[in-house]
Amino acid sequence: MDPQDVKSNLVLILDFGSQYTHLITRRIRALNVFSLCINGTSSLKSIANLKPSVIILSGGPHSVHALDAPCFPSGFMEYVETNKVHVLGICYGLQLIVQKMGGVVRVGEKQEYGRMEIVVEKACGLFGNRKVGDWQSVWMSHGDETVNLPEGFEVVARSKQGSVAALENREKRLYGLQYHPEVTHSPEGMETLRCFLFDICGVTAGWKMEDVLEEELKIIKDTVGPDDHVICALSGGVDSTVAATLVHKAIGDRLHCAFVDNGLLRFKERERVMETFEKDLHLPVTCIDATEQFLSKLKGVTEPEKKRKIIGNEFICIFDAYAHDLEKKLGKKPAYLVQGTLYPDVIESCPPPGSGRTHSHTIKSHHNVGGLPKDMKLKLIEPLKLLFKDEVRELGRIMGVPVSFLKRHPFPGPGLAVRVPGDVTEGNRLDILRKADEIFIQAIKDAGIYDSIWQAFAVFMPVLTVGVQGDQRTHSYAIALRAVTSQDGMTADWYYFDYKFLADLSTRICNEVQGVNRVLLDITSKPPATIEWE
Ligand code: XMP
Repeated sequence: MDPQDVKSNLVLILDFGSQYTHLITRRIRALNVFSLCINGTSSLKSIANLKPSVIILSGGPHSVHALDAPCFPSGFMEYVETNKVHVLGICYGLQLIVQKMGGVVRVGEKQEYGRMEIVVEKACGLFGNRKVGDWQSVWMSHGDETVNLPEGFEVVARSKQGSVAALENREKRLYGLQYHPEVTHSPEGMETLRCFLFDICGVTAGWKMEDVLEEELKIIKDTVGPDDHVICALSGGVDSTVAATLVHKAIGDRLHCAFVDNGLLRFKERERVMETFEKDLHLPVTCIDATEQFLSKLKGVTEPEKKRKIIGNEFICIFDAYAHDLEKKLGKKPAYLVQGTLYPDVIESCPPPGSGRTHSHTIKSHHNVGGLPKDMKLKLIEPLKLLFKDEVRELGRIMGVPVSFLKRHPFPGPGLAVRVPGDVTEGNRLDILRKADEIFIQAIKDAGIYDSIWQAFAVFMPVLTVGVQGDQRTHSYAIALRAVTSQDGMTADWYYFDYKFLADLSTRICNEVQGVNRVLLDITSKPPATIEWE
C-alpha cells in the first residue's frame, strides 16, 4: 500500500523515540482510522507529501533542553496552522509544542513516573463528557514539566501533584497530553484518543481491511505489467501465504510460488501446507524436495551460525535454480518477487531519532535467511509492508485463508535445525524430534490452550541418559519442551502448564517415541534465554 493513496484522514505520527510510539499507531488503526508513523525529524516536504489531517507528536526519552533533542523540522508550526492540521503532543511531544510556541518547560521538581491521578480542570473535547473535578488514572513517564503556558493555551487537566496533565489551544488546533493515553495503564486513554480524533478533529472512521484489500489489489494490478510474471517463496508461514494469496487474486497464475522442503520441517508439514495452498487457496505452488541437498550439506556441522549460513545459502541456490527454470519455461525472466515484509520489519530498520541506532540489533544471523541473490534483479512487491501481524491475519481471513492456518505459531526459517543442537543428521534425531513435537502440539491443541501460547515446540537433547523401560535398562535421548507467551517474540515468558498435563505428556512421549526416555521442561524466560535453542 502506498501511503500516498490514503487520500484523507491520515493520522501521521512523528516519532521522537518513545517505546510506546507504535502503540499509538495501533490504537488509532483499531479505531478504523489509517495511521502511519515516520521519524519525528523528517523533512517538512515528506510530511506535507503525506497530506495528514492530524499529526501526533510522540513521547521520547529526551529532555527538550538537551543539545541533541530531536525536533520537528523548522516551518512545521506554520505548516500545520496554514493547512489547518490538528496536532496532539504526547509527553515529550507536548513539551515540544510548549517550548516552540513560547512557553517554558523546566526540569521537574517532582518527576512523575507510573500510575497517577489527574483531574479535569476545564470541560473540553479531549475528555468527552467528563466534567470539571472528575478524576481518572493515567500513566505518566516524564521528568520535565510545563511551568509557563504559551499564549493562547489553557490547562484542561492537572495531576494530583499540580502539574499540567493536558492543555489546548483550540484556535490553533494544538492539544497536548503529558501522559500516555496509548498504554493500557491509562484506562480511559483510548476514549481520549477517540474524542480527539472524532469530536475535535472531525476525522471519519472508515479504514478497514476490506478497503486495504481493494487498495492493494489495485496497486498490484497497476504495478505489474500485463505480461509480467511474479515469483514468491512460500515458507508455510502466515506472512508469505497472505502476501502470495493477495498477489494471486490480483494477477492470477502469472504468480509462481515455490515451497522448499529442506528436510527440516515438522511432522507432515509439507503435506499439510501444500494441502492448504492447493485446496483452500488454489495457489500455483511448486513443491521442491531438497531434503537430500540440505542434509548432505549439514552433515557433521555443529557450529550454530555455520548451520544457519548453510541453510540460508542452500535456499538461495534452490530458489535461484527455480527462477531460472521458470524463465526457460516462460521464455522470459520473472520481473517481480513477492515478500511478506510486515510493518514492524520496516520500523525496525528505521530506528527513532536520538536512539543512537542505525539498524536494529540482530541477535542471530539466521533471522535474515530470506536474503535472495542480488543478480536476480527482481523488483520487490511487499503488499503487507504497512500492516501489523494481526492486521495481516485479518486480511488473510477475509481472503479465505483458513483461520487455523492464520493462528499457527511462528516457525523459524532454519526449521528443526535450530531445535537439534549440534549435528542434525546424526542417527534419527530429526525423526525423534518430529514425533515428540507432534505429540506435544496435538496435546496443546486438545487442551484448548494453543491460542494462548505464542510458540510451543520440542527440542532434541543430544545427550544419552540412563533409564529403565520395561525391565530393560535404556540409554536414550532426552526431549525438552519449550512453550512461551509473548507479544512479539522480542521478550517472552515460559508458559505455566498444568502439572497433570505435563505428567501425561511425559508418559506419552516416552511410551510413543522410541529412543526417548526422559522429558524436560524449559522454564527460562527471554531474556536471558532466546526462544529457540540455537
Ligand atoms: P529467538 O530464538 O531469537 O526467536 O528468541 C525469536 C522469534 O524468531 C523466530 N526465529 C526465527 N525466524 N528465521 C526465522 O524466520 C530464523 O532463523 C529464526 N530464528 C528464530 C523464533 O522462532 C521466535 O519466534
